[in-house]
Amino acid sequence: MTDPVRMTVENGLAIIEIDNPPVNALSQAVRQGLVETVLAADADEAVKAIVIYGAGRTFIAGADIREFGKPPMPPSLPDVINQIELVSTPTVAALHGTALGGGLETALGAHYRVALASARFGLPEVNLGILPGAGGTQRLPRIVPIAKAVQMITGGGMIGAKEALELGLIDEIAQGDDVRAAGIAMAERLVAEGAKARPTSAREASAIDAEDFAKMQAAVAKKARGLKAPVNCMKAIEAAMTLPFDEGMTRERELFMELYNDPQRAAMVHAFFGEREVAKVPEIKTGAPRDIQQVGVIGGGTMGAGIATSALLAGLDVTLAERDQEAADKAAATVTGHLSGAVKRGKLAQAKFDAIVGGKFRTTTDYADFAQADLVIEAVFESMEVKQDVFGKLDKICKPGAILASNTSYLDINDIAAMTNRPEDVIGLHFFSPAHVMRLLEVVVADKTSADVVASGFALAKRMKKIAVRAGVCDGFIGNRILNAYAKAVNGAVLAGASPYDVDRAMEEFGLAMGLFRVADLAGLDIGWASRKRRAPDRDPREQYAEFADRICEKGRFGRKTGRGFYIHGDDRSEAPDPEVLEIIEAERSGKGITPREISDGEIIDRYMAAMVNESARVVGEGIALRPLDVDMTLLNGYGFPRWRGGPLHYADTVGLEKILNDIKAFQKEDDFFWQPAPLLEQLVAEGKTFASLNR
Ligand code: 3HC
Ligand code: NAI
Repeated sequence: MTDPVRMTVENGLAIIEIDNPPVNALSQAVRQGLVETVLAADADEAVKAIVIYGAGRTFIAGADIREFGKPPMPPSLPDVINQIELVSTPTVAALHGTALGGGLETALGAHYRVALASARFGLPEVNLGILPGAGGTQRLPRIVPIAKAVQMITGGGMIGAKEALELGLIDEIAQGDDVRAAGIAMAERLVAEGAKARPTSAREASAIDAEDFAKMQAAVAKKARGLKAPVNCMKAIEAAMTLPFDEGMTRERELFMELYNDPQRAAMVHAFFGEREVAKVPEIKTGAPRDIQQVGVIGGGTMGAGIATSALLAGLDVTLAERDQEAADKAAATVTGHLSGAVKRGKLAQAKFDAIVGGKFRTTTDYADFAQADLVIEAVFESMEVKQDVFGKLDKICKPGAILASNTSYLDINDIAAMTNRPEDVIGLHFFSPAHVMRLLEVVVADKTSADVVASGFALAKRMKKIAVRAGVCDGFIGNRILNAYAKAVNGAVLAGASPYDVDRAMEEFGLAMGLFRVADLAGLDIGWASRKRRAPDRDPREQYAEFADRICEKGRFGRKTGRGFYIHGDDRSEAPDPEVLEIIEAERSGKGITPREISDGEIIDRYMAAMVNESARVVGEGIALRPLDVDMTLLNGYGFPRWRGGPLHYADTVGLEKILNDIKAFQKEDDFFWQPAPLLEQLVAEGKTFASLNR
């Protein structure tokens, strides 16, 4: 292996290149190489200044996350950066790409910073359940105002070069795109000016009113919703404000180690790698994505409008078809509204918005306008008849090679594909509502879908900045199938004695942004009601069917949009428990002869998780999901499962599969039709294995 850190000395400058593709992560070899070269340069009389820069597409993107959880391998990053900062030779960090985490911390340990205009900077450690543990929490508050340090460290986002310059985080934005040359130019100037080393640690930390800081601390803790890292980040920033640098570093270390050893860190790292692994599906090895420029969307309701928006934001050309002109105009207004929102939030430049409404987006009532489309996504009513009719027509109109996709939530893609003479071009692209916001896309592969069509689905997701998960065909694919299972379990808890409000509280305390009933009210109870009515004829008589949601719908109460559902909704977006809902549930219990009992929050979660893990095990066992991690990424990105718990199957591994199986067996006594252990779960328990063992 070639040395990942190389130094050359030219004209009195030591130029240190970090070359550890793909993102120059700070592996042990990089840390060692970096400290050795900087110390050697400092010891060399001929060297008047040092330049550190990254080879390839970026400066350092942080610590090597693959080393997490392994035994420590010296030198440690805080030591490396402290030693760099203390050299007497002026040191320049020349930055391009993304200087993230330990990468930005390395730059903060250098004495001067120059960046290309396209460079971005951030401390994303919080997204991995940790805090910047190589001096970032101590040095950043010595450069930028405390409120900004709080935002960057607890928010984990990135800022651009212009803002970094205004904040004094960098000293200069270089012209052009040659980062090495930019570093050399700055170093030469520093030498000419006789500039000295300028350690960040010697500066005073920024100050802030104690009361203001306390308010920020409270706000961060509230927003963290169970995630420990932001809370410790605030404690570390407080240490920077109140303690001398060395003591602040010691405190940072303590707070870092606390997080590093917490299961939340392992869960967040699982999510980081899972979101990358999930794109590695067999079809991308055999199929190259087709070129997609022109997209057709059929149906401009909730989903169609969101899908069109997402495609437009990804730079694609979109034609949206509706049933009549009035519906088409309404859809156009929805899409334009979504796009204006994106402009307001700074996600879309005004010029791009103008280009979209000026020509890249149009509506129609005639499918003939799809003749040149590379991809058509159908988002009409959830009815097999309507969808088959649409696909039959598309088959006649679309050009050869066009991809025909359905956004169906539950229906069988094979039956839809059968209406065409090109089933190999048909695929499910299951977006989540709101489609221009939610990151998840299920790519549903039918029996005859060709590999390049699957690869195209993944390429589209990437272009839309979404996480695509490969799913096989079944009722509800990965996500909705699992949702249906845990919804039944939660309904079972309600029939047994819990209230919907108990359920929501327990789920929210577990880490979900919203409990199941609150979500249902928000999405509209009519959607689930319609699908339950559709399935009623096929319902197994042995199923203990909970009827209370149907009773509520029969009163015309569909949740927030009608002012009442499980909750009573106020104009000010307030939500109050509804005594009538409790009466409806009580009536169902007495009709079924159930004597309600006390159900603890712990039991609610045990039921919810047992059902979720059990159905997930089926989904993996049947090959609907490729691996356990595919299920985890689905639930994290589409169903609000707390990221710091890693996903249901990661969670199951941490609590132990035996505990989950025992819970299922205990609940079985109450309802032995629903609570049947999945064969894969039983097998893993018998073999003493984890779900993680199937991810490799
Ligand atoms: N360590 C190890 N591997 C990393 C890595 C890291 N820090 N960052 C990225 N990678 C890997 C990815 O897993 C991926 O591997 P694969 O090709 O085998 O799947 C490969 O590098 C390319 O990554 P992406 O697919 O994400 O490439 P993008 O170009 O889309 O994004 C990026 C690049 C913005 C740098 C993104 O990878 C990223 O956000 N990385 C993580 C940055 C981060 O969290 N840094 C903080 C680390 S913790 C730390 O520094 C602790 C310190 O404070 C002590
Ligand atoms: P919606 O009722 O809001 O919109 C459907 C639209 O399709 C209507 O505007 C209707 O006028 C139009 N339409 C019906 N038949 C048409 C035809 N033959 N040609 C052109 N337009 C036609 O429904 P929604 O919620 O957008 O759902 C659409 C599809 O997306 C369904 O299959 C649904 O299961 C699925 N889905 C829905 C999600 C949700 O949360 N609403 C999430 C993911 C998928």
